[in-house]
Amino acid sequence: MGVSGKRIVLGVTGGVAAYKAAVLTRELQRAGAQVQVVMTEAGTRFVGPATFQALTGEPVFVDQWDARIVNGMAHIELSRAADAIVIAPASADFIASLAQGRAGDLLATLCLARECPLAVAPAMNRQMWENPATQRNIQQLRNDGIEVVGPDSGDQACGETGMGRMLEPEAIVEALASWLSPKPLLGKRVLITAGPTFEPIDPVRGITNRSSGKMGFALAGACVQAGAEVTLVAGPVSLDTPWGVRQRINVQTAQQMHDAVHRQLDAAAHAAHPHDVFIAVAAVADWRPASYSDAKIKKTDAQSVPQLQFTQNPDILASVAARKPAPYCVGFAAESDSLERHGRDKLIRKGIPLLVANIGHETFGRDDNELLVLDGSSQTRLARAPKHELARELVHEIARRLDLPR
Ligand code: C5P
Repeated sequence: MGVSGKRIVLGVTGGVAAYKAAVLTRELQRAGAQVQVVMTEAGTRFVGPATFQALTGEPVFVDQWDARIVNGMAHIELSRAADAIVIAPASADFIASLAQGRAGDLLATLCLARECPLAVAPAMNRQMWENPATQRNIQQLRNDGIEVVGPDSGDQACGETGMGRMLEPEAIVEALASWLSPKPLLGKRVLITAGPTFEPIDPVRGITNRSSGKMGFALAGACVQAGAEVTLVAGPVSLDTPWGVRQRINVQTAQQMHDAVHRQLDAAAHAAHPHDVFIAVAAVADWRPASYSDAKIKKTDAQSVPQLQFTQNPDILASVAARKPAPYCVGFAAESDSLERHGRDKLIRKGIPLLVANIGHETFGRDDNELLVLDGSSQTRLARAPKHELARELVHEIARRLDLPR
């Protein structure tokens, strides 16, 4: 899925960002794609074809009249073999030629002769990007069904700061993965909680659960790739928001997470576009200190230990499952024993149709995991894999149940 197993023609045109196309080549390969590089003459002024040839192990094509293609029709041969063409960086000039359907060089001809999807990652200085001619051309590309990825804003090679920088290679790969993935959640609204909660005792202390947030964030990214509109409510974690997530709300306590979740559900219901799915991945603290001390609790002498009283936190998942109507609710469980029995108990106790249990204890902070997916009648084991891969499998498990009668 995504770019994995895809044959991608990477077109490199003339721009300083061409040096990043070498990193992009590597990132695409790491994501499982096979990369064939085609450059414009201007592109070769910035990075030599030998760099890409060494990275891909494939000859790099520049010239329309390249004698290495036996039938003399490099544009047909190369585009026929491709699952997608990606132009990164795409210069203002190349974008203009695409918008006009010109075939001035091999890369432009290839784009014109293609049957596969085409994406461009613009890279140019701020004035060139903002120029109405470029904006017209970009609009034309969008109208023609070409995917425009970025650009980003930030420091530019010309010394200016502004819109026009090419997206970073990792972000381009994420965007392409999303664009090329099947869309089983297209048009669906998904709300996800992730990370731990933190319940303060005083200004410097608190209790929390162990959770890196990685699984929840991976799921948010996978839902975006599956076409969903995703809102992420996150406890304190140090993770970047996955590409394409519509909104991220940072919270600290369970009560704040509960309130943020219900506010989101209410607002969407009001707008007559309610959430279809709620996925509770957060490791919510079950209790919080009954009282909060505004001042740091002093350590007076070695003998006296403060007596903390606790009070129950709201069960966010159960409260969402009890709404009428409720979104399709998915819970997570970290059990230490009798996984299936405890999992089934939890399905019933929380009133939810699907529960995902971690197999094994030490999943915290790791990049891989092993899961058991339980619904009212069946169980599916998802073998150990990186969390982002498991996330994609889980999305599939969720999506195929959405259309079943509940
Ligand atoms: O009850 P337990 O903590 O084992 O249940 C775990 C599941 O319930 C997870 O999906 C977690 O996100 C959710 N949960 C919640 N609010 C709580 C406790 C757990 O949403 N207060």
